[in-house]
Amino acid sequence: MDYEERITAAELGDGEERAEVGLRPQNLQDYIGQKKATENLKVFIEAAKLRKEPLDHVLFYGPPGLGKTTLAGIIANEMGVDIRITSGPAIERAGDLAAILTNLDENDVLFIDEIHRLNRSVEEVLYSAMEDFALDIIIGKGPSARSIRLDIARFTLIGATTRAGSLSAPLRDRFGVSCKFELYTPEELKEIIRRSAGILEVQVDEESMDEMAKRSRGTPRVANRMLKRIRDFSQVRGSGTIDIDITRKSMDALGVDHMGLESLDREILKTIIERFKGGPVGIDTIAASIGEERVTIEDVYEPYLIQAGFLHRTQKGRVVSELAYKHLGLAYEAEQMELSIGE
Ligand code: ADE
Repeated sequence: MDYEERITAAELGDGEERAEVGLRPQNLQDYIGQKKATENLKVFIEAAKLRKEPLDHVLFYGPPGLGKTTLAGIIANEMGVDIRITSGPAIERAGDLAAILTNLDENDVLFIDEIHRLNRSVEEVLYSAMEDFALDIIIGKGPSARSIRLDIARFTLIGATTRAGSLSAPLRDRFGVSCKFELYTPEELKEIIRRSAGILEVQVDEESMDEMAKRSRGTPRVANRMLKRIRDFSQVRGSGTIDIDITRKSMDALGVDHMGLESLDREILKTIIERFKGGPVGIDTIAASIGEERVTIEDVYEPYLIQAGFLHRTQKGRVVSELAYKHLGLAYEAEQMELSIGE
C-alpha cells in the first residue's frame, strides 16, 4: 500500500486538505503544543504589529503532519494579513515566483511548503525579494539585455521543510526566525482529539481518546484522520458514539497496532532484523531492500520509530532496539547491545 493511503501516513492524501481545514485552529490560543515555537512567535508577532511592520521571515522545520501550514495560517490571522500558500515544486520558473510576489499586499504572508525543493533559479529570485523586497528582472537578450529592479510589497516568507539540512546556506541565512517542530506528546494529542471530536460533534470516551493519542505516532494529522475513520466504524457498525471497544476494533481493521505502527513500519524493523541481523545497516540499503525512497523513510517513518525507541541511528548505520524485537515477537540476540549508540 502506498504510504499516502495509510491511516498513519503523515502526508496529505488527495482531497484531504479540504477535510483537514475544518479542524485547523485559527488563532494561537487554540493551537495545542509546540510551546517553544508559539511562545516566541507570540512576542515577535506583537512586536511586528506594534511597529506596523511585516513579521521577519520564518522557517519551520520538522516531520510532516505536525501543523506547520496550520501555524502559518494562524500567524497571518494574528497579524491581520492575507496568506498565499504554495510549495517548492509548484513554483517551476522564476517568472512564477515573480507573479506571486508582485501580487502580495503590504505585510502579507507567503507560505512555501517543501521549500527545500525550490529550484536554483527560483531560489535566487527569492534572495533579493527576502532581503530588499525587490525583484531584479532581466529584460531583453544578448548584448542589449539589461536588468531593472522592481520594488514589491514588504512581506513575510514562511518556509516549511521536513529537512532543514537540505536548505542552501544563503536561503537558510535569510530567515530571521527558525522554529523546530517536535512530535507531540500523548497528552497534547489527546487535547487535539478532544477539540476535533467537539468540532465533528462526535462523542468519544476518555479511554478511547487515550488509545487514539497513544497510537497516533506523535502526529496531529494522524490523530485527526484516525478519529474520522473510527467515527465511520462507529456510525456503521456501532452505536454512533465512540467507546474503547469500537476504537480497538477499528484500529485492528485499519492495521494499526497498539504502538501506532503499521505494516510498513513493521516491515522496516523486520527487514533490519531478518536481513541485516538487527543492524547496523545503512539507510540506502534499507531503502533498496523494502523498495521505498530513502527520503520517505527518513522523513516519514524514522522520526517516530526513533522517538518511540524502536530504532537507533548510530555512526555505523541504523540499529533496531530490543524493544523492536519484543514488539515483533522475535528473539533478541544480546551481541547487539555492545554497539555504542551515537547520534
Ligand atoms: N490540529 C492540527 N494541529 C493542531 C494543533 N497543534 N492544535 C490544535 N489543533 C490542531
